[in-house]
Amino acid sequence: MPETLEVSLWRGGADGQYVGYSVPQRANQTVLDVVTFVQRNLDATLSYRFACRVGMCGSCAMTVNGKPRWTCRTHVSKVASGGKLTIGPLANLPVIKDLAADMREFFDKWQRGKGAFAPSKTRSDPIAPIKPDDPARVAANKAIECINCGVCYAACDTVRWNSNYLGPAALNRAWTLVNDARDAGNRGRLSAVAANGGCHSCHSHQTCHDLCPLALNPTESIAGLKRATMAAYLRGDIG
Ligand code: SF4
Ligand code: SF4
Ligand code: FES
Repeated sequence: MPETLEVSLWRGGADGQYVGYSVPQRANQTVLDVVTFVQRNLDATLSYRFACRVGMCGSCAMTVNGKPRWTCRTHVSKVASGGKLTIGPLANLPVIKDLAADMREFFDKWQRGKGAFAPSKTRSDPIAPIKPDDPARVAANKAIECINCGVCYAACDTVRWNSNYLGPAALNRAWTLVNDARDAGNRGRLSAVAANGGCHSCHSHQTCHDLCPLALNPTESIAGLKRATMAAYLRGDIG
């Protein structure tokens, strides 16, 4: 293995450029370790985002050699080609500075897709029992593991072509709530996800599924929303 990595990091805003750095290569080094080395040893002005370093917070996603990835759980040995790494901010989002993308529109779309729980009961009511093998609970099982990292959003070609599209993560979230027996917001939620830029814009490429670090399948959730919105339309629940 070469002793140093040739690393190109995006510097600046949207009109920035890639700048090269040499970073010592180490065993079991992650891409986040590389970025942190540059910030601590070569240029303290480098901006990037991370928190947990163990794949739980979803804040460290960047574009690594052309693909969106969690940098804290991506080993350099798996992605560096010929000892070279090119690391930029997540695609499909504005750049704040360097490796930090502006996540506002990602979370705004969660709100637009009615991704907030709408309680059907008060705290005085008994807790609704949900059986683990309830079909709706099973349908939402995988989708609830999402940690909002934005990797699928950055990977989605439909987001790239259509900035109005809600994207895989917001629609995946909506699917978890559509299947939540305790939630009372489904009429508004199904209207929101059936509207222009909603679930029917998805072309089912499954790039989101291919690149989700948790192997979640937003395409499957979106297919469920397509069926649920059509059924709601036929019932006359949504216009
Ligand atoms: S399956 Fe749908 S949400 Fe997933 S990447 Fe393709 S267009 Fe985007
Ligand atoms: S579905 Fe996967 S890739 Fe998309 S935000 Fe959730 S954890 Fe990240
Ligand atoms: S730093 Fe939390 S997921 Fe990578």
